[in-house]
Amino acid sequence: MSRIFSGIQPSGEVHLGNYLGAVRNWVKLQDEYECLYCIVDLHALTVPQEPQELPRRVAEAIATNLACGLDPERSIIFVQSAVPEHTELCWLLTCLTPIGALERMTQFKDKAGGKRHSVGAGLLTYPVLMAADILLYKADTVPVGEDQVQHLELAREIARKFNSTYGPTFPEPQPLLTAGARIMALNAPEKKMSKSLPGSYISLAEEPETIRQKVMRAVTDVGPQGNEMSPGVKNLFTILENVAPPDVVKQFRDAYASGTLRYSDLKQTLAEELIRTLTPIRERRAELLTRPQELQEIVAAGAARARPMAQAVLAEVKEKMGLGRLL
Ligand code: TYM
Repeated sequence: MSRIFSGIQPSGEVHLGNYLGAVRNWVKLQDEYECLYCIVDLHALTVPQEPQELPRRVAEAIATNLACGLDPERSIIFVQSAVPEHTELCWLLTCLTPIGALERMTQFKDKAGGKRHSVGAGLLTYPVLMAADILLYKADTVPVGEDQVQHLELAREIARKFNSTYGPTFPEPQPLLTAGARIMALNAPEKKMSKSLPGSYISLAEEPETIRQKVMRAVTDVGPQGNEMSPGVKNLFTILENVAPPDVVKQFRDAYASGTLRYSDLKQTLAEELIRTLTPIRERRAELLTRPQELQEIVAAGAARARPMAQAVLAEVKEKMGLGRLL
């Protein structure tokens, strides 16, 4: 059976882009693969986090993922910092990774902007920790949104470099994308929907009224586009296709093609379909958050299953690199 690894940062609210691009797919894959799903708290530290707030955010991320349908009976669900082998492998792989490859990462360039020399070095080495997450379990399949594809290319390069230097060890992990792999910001459809862009996202904990407001305010036409659908409208159609029955989508596609589509109708229907999809998640999430002890037990059990797997691979890696022995 192929093995899956994927992760999500607890650096803000889990949003519709995370759900359609990744988490919903994680849920479906649980029967076909051996799955490890990780709340990557160490990745979240690459940007400043309040120590008083981080535990709540981790708890919310766990609750949201469970509410979406991740099942601790079928998947290993755990928090990254509970398995310290991630950071140890990260160091070993950092020594194999060219700085130039890290500096070329689009996400680094976007996040560091003009402050390359003052941001934390973790922002640069972030993709090595991500490679370590995956390779530590020899996972071969990684369900993610499109924004992570470049990081996965680097993970494959790192795996190849390790294999050619120290002998065949790691599979080259492949991305698995969904039809919702790139959901754009509602208020700025040329950018991706993101927790760090206020007004861009719908959280999975959003109340129906807020969902309606956010959808109704979504940017549609941002200027003359010729015959091309504008990025905002295209994005609303992408979301609709992911949450509404095919006949509803067809009705709006036909209206668009014949020039009779009213954006307000499209938005109203989209808002109601989103509410229908997200309400059970919001309710289950709220209910799970009333039992933090149970969440704690779930991730402790997940870490207890993940750790021996991680320890075995790390031991193999150290042995191959000539570490931990005198002769
Ligand atoms: P993160 O926390 O930013 O996002 C979690 C998942 O959601 C996807 N995603 C989106 N998909 C579609 N449209 C969007 N607008 C959108 N925004 C986010 C992301 O692609 C991701 O799959 N580096 C990762 C976490 C990570 C990881 C890993 C992933 C750490 N280690 C190992 C896979 C394997 C991240 O920051 O995801």
